[in-house]
Amino acid sequence: MLDKLKEIEKNALDALGSVKDQDALEAWRVAYLGRSSPVMGVFSGLGQLSKEERPAVGQAANKVKVALEAALAERTEAVKAAMLAKSLEEEQLDVTLPGRGNRVGRLHPSTQQLRHVIDIFAEMGFQVYTSREVETDEVNFQALNFPPHHPAREMQDTLYIDAGDRGDNPLLLRTHTSPGQIHSMREASSENPENPPPIRIVLPGMCFRSEQITARSEVQFNQVEGLAVGENITFADLKGTLSDFARRMFGQDVRTRFRASYFPFTEPSAEMDVECFVCGGAGCQVCKQSGWLEILGCGMVHPVVLENGGYDPRRYTGYAFGMGPERQLMLRYKIDDIRYFWGNDMRFLEQF
Ligand code: PHE
Repeated sequence: MLDKLKEIEKNALDALGSVKDQDALEAWRVAYLGRSSPVMGVFSGLGQLSKEERPAVGQAANKVKVALEAALAERTEAVKAAMLAKSLEEEQLDVTLPGRGNRVGRLHPSTQQLRHVIDIFAEMGFQVYTSREVETDEVNFQALNFPPHHPAREMQDTLYIDAGDRGDNPLLLRTHTSPGQIHSMREASSENPENPPPIRIVLPGMCFRSEQITARSEVQFNQVEGLAVGENITFADLKGTLSDFARRMFGQDVRTRFRASYFPFTEPSAEMDVECFVCGGAGCQVCKQSGWLEILGCGMVHPVVLENGGYDPRRYTGYAFGMGPERQLMLRYKIDDIRYFWGNDMRFLEQF
């Protein structure tokens, strides 16, 4: 009997050695310390033993039971410790990791440049006038001295809005910000037709053209138009203002030059170049070895346009100009493909 108890103890301890979790611990307890376990069987069999044998076997069985209970308690602690170690290992939380910051958005590069241009003109006393993107043929072209079917329209092919038959005055997307000249002059002159007030404004916004999309041309782009109308405004004012703008935008030492050009709505017309700010005028790829970069179109407001805006050309004169912020950015940062601006590629946008 005593040998049997030794074996019971040995079997139980062996089985406990491979117990690894809470469920197995419980199963072991039922199997080796439960009511129908071998040790308990020895206790209930004590009655059948002789008087002499009974105390020794009883004592021995008790020892085994106590030993098994102690082993279970120890094993339970060990399993708990192992499980804690395992969950610490698997569910690691490193509280020293830096947090995920909020990603702060910013303005599109075109908008940044547009605002930069506007800021400079605001310092010179220009106000901002915004005008519609959907225009009539009358204001986008005719009032600006492009009659229907006139070959000058070749310069600016447009996109039309389907709005039924409107004869010679279809709806279209503006091809430039110049129709804003007409709106602003008409607005100002309608308030005081006999004595319209002077105007000094910049007109920013999106323009559209029916173009094949390539590295150099897009169907949409921004422009900033400028318009000054008043008495005694001369070409010298135009030159002075735009040269000053170029210095403020591109650097105090930058040189400018004006080349004769043609626009139906200005006379005389010119294009302004700035000395290439990439090579300083020596000649490079960006300026195509010329040393100069074309920045904007400009001129004295055509008498027909003043008339169409309600300003008497015998009394008033004015100048106008138009420039493209995307073009300025392309020159400044040597961006060789205009499609990046509306491609929505974060790798491009994040650089500004
Ligand atoms: N509207 C012209 C263009 O888009 C630019 C311009 C504006 C030229 C004002 C002269 C005066 O090409």
